[in-house]
Amino acid sequence: MCGIVGYIGKNHNPKIGLEALKKLEYRGYDSAGMAVLNSKKKKIFVLKTVGKISNLEKEFSKKRVKGNPFILHTRWATHGAVTKTNAHPHSDCQKNIFLVHNGIIENYKILKEKLMKEGHRFSSETDTEVITHLIEKFFNGNLERAVQKALKFVRGTYGLAIISKDDPGKIVAARNSSPVLIGIGEGENIVASDKAAIAGFTKKIIYLNDGEIAVLTPSECRVIDFNQKIIKKTIEKMEWDIEEVQKGNFPHFMLKEIFEAPEVVENALRGRLVLKEGQVRLGGLEGISDKMKDIKRLIICACGSSYFSSLVGEYLLQEYAQIPTRVEYASEFRYKKQPFDKNTAYLFISQSGETADTLAALRKVKKRGNLTLGVVNIVGSSLARETDVGIYNHAGLEIGVASTKTFISQLVVFSLLSLFLARQRHLSKVAGQKIIRELKVVPQKIKTILKGASQVEKLAKKYKDFENFLFIGRKYNFPIALEGALKLKEISYVHAEGYGAGEMKHGPIALIDKNFPTVAVCPSDSVYEKTISNIEEIKARSGKIIAIASQGDRAIKELVNDVIYIPKTLEPLNPILTLVPLQLFAYYMGVLRGCDPDKPRNLAKSVTVE
Ligand code: AGP
Repeated sequence: MCGIVGYIGKNHNPKIGLEALKKLEYRGYDSAGMAVLNSKKKKIFVLKTVGKISNLEKEFSKKRVKGNPFILHTRWATHGAVTKTNAHPHSDCQKNIFLVHNGIIENYKILKEKLMKEGHRFSSETDTEVITHLIEKFFNGNLERAVQKALKFVRGTYGLAIISKDDPGKIVAARNSSPVLIGIGEGENIVASDKAAIAGFTKKIIYLNDGEIAVLTPSECRVIDFNQKIIKKTIEKMEWDIEEVQKGNFPHFMLKEIFEAPEVVENALRGRLVLKEGQVRLGGLEGISDKMKDIKRLIICACGSSYFSSLVGEYLLQEYAQIPTRVEYASEFRYKKQPFDKNTAYLFISQSGETADTLAALRKVKKRGNLTLGVVNIVGSSLARETDVGIYNHAGLEIGVASTKTFISQLVVFSLLSLFLARQRHLSKVAGQKIIRELKVVPQKIKTILKGASQVEKLAKKYKDFENFLFIGRKYNFPIALEGALKLKEISYVHAEGYGAGEMKHGPIALIDKNFPTVAVCPSDSVYEKTISNIEEIKARSGKIIAIASQGDRAIKELVNDVIYIPKTLEPLNPILTLVPLQLFAYYMGVLRGCDPDKPRNLAKSVTVE
């Protein structure tokens, strides 16, 4: 959850580090800090502030220190309160070694006790600080050597950037489970926990793997393991550019990314539809096409919104591919006893590819040898590299903490995967062609919905003072009701519950009165009549209703208080369309209630802690 940035090279102004750090703000944080090596004075200058990076910038502008390397950090508190003392960078007793960390050190208490007995003095309540004192313990002039020795005692997850005044001229980086990327520039190198910080410096990227240590100088990046063995790394090309990280003329990244949905769908489809054969081409699965034919069961593991998109995937996979499918919360799955079955394949859905619970579930399955597939947006992320095969979303960088375009992209990938597996089994070419034709026009249909954004904004103004909402839907609309409720919760901090519409009478209907509005996801589909009955039950109890309905449905207008219309499509593809107005509704409600839609309180873009 924390953000780390380190720079070494021709630029001696740490301000560029602050600019890079600001690109990690979307991940969520509560304090920030930086350390700058002034090699002339052989001194490391440290600044830490609580709150926004702008507070750190204010303090920095007063001091105007120059030098490099420098390291910077945004902290999302796990161990120890949100204070300046607990903010990173942390240092050793001699103020020689300074370090920033993303992750959790699980055995820090034992290490801290031992180090204190050996005379080390600690200043913070964090788990991170034990690493600096461990490195100090082994430091004899060579920083990477001391880091190698120290990390052998550490259990837990880390992405690290470390500098030393007594071994200047380098940054040492190390990774175990938390992402560490190296940007290779001309006469400069940058290390970060997220590509967004590197965008604008260089497009050449090296991904560290677990157990690897990088030694950065202005002209070189050397990667070694814990036994000093040199590891040859490939320099990969970053597919983003700096423009993607900018807001353009949108007030918030979240709104920009909602409006990117049409091109996100196009990007997810690009090169993957073979209309004349009614077929789907998924490059990531090509090598295992035969293995996929033998799959008898699918289990999907995910968290949060990715869990809800997976519920849509379950309907799609069972309807189209007729493969028994079950979705599990990764945070639950990892503790469950699972009967082994070699014909079960496991899917792991994660836009960030770094969610700790989802990674833990993956690592549990990999120990047993089942086929693992990833659906991920971040190229080179842990999940992308640890699953056997995968499908990238190609949704581009999503800066807003709440997933919007990546959720839409996940729905498209599930449609493609279901079609791919269905055509391997029983689905006819003609049926496949029908789905492909409809997928191709989905982007245009989303554009139609987006043209009505101002209507949704009006609706938010009408409902902005309500403190509770119920979201209901059946079948394909049920997971969208769940996601619509989650979006409203996390963006506007309004309490919202998603429920299967059929469950209304089993309890939630007790909540309904004129102060408890309901959003009913009710397109013209196979369960429309049933959902209309639920709407009538709510109306009979003076509940206000906002319906998401199909264009041309005049009847529903008589029944509900407000309607947002969406174009018609195939029932299994409805979720891609019904979700868009709910994302807009959550966004406008959040803005009208004075919330920050890009950085909701307490949330982070990738939940790398359990
Ligand atoms: C996104 O809107 C949610 N805030 C969050 O639940 C998210 O979906 C969840 O943390 C899973 O993230 P992932 O897709 O990166 O694994």
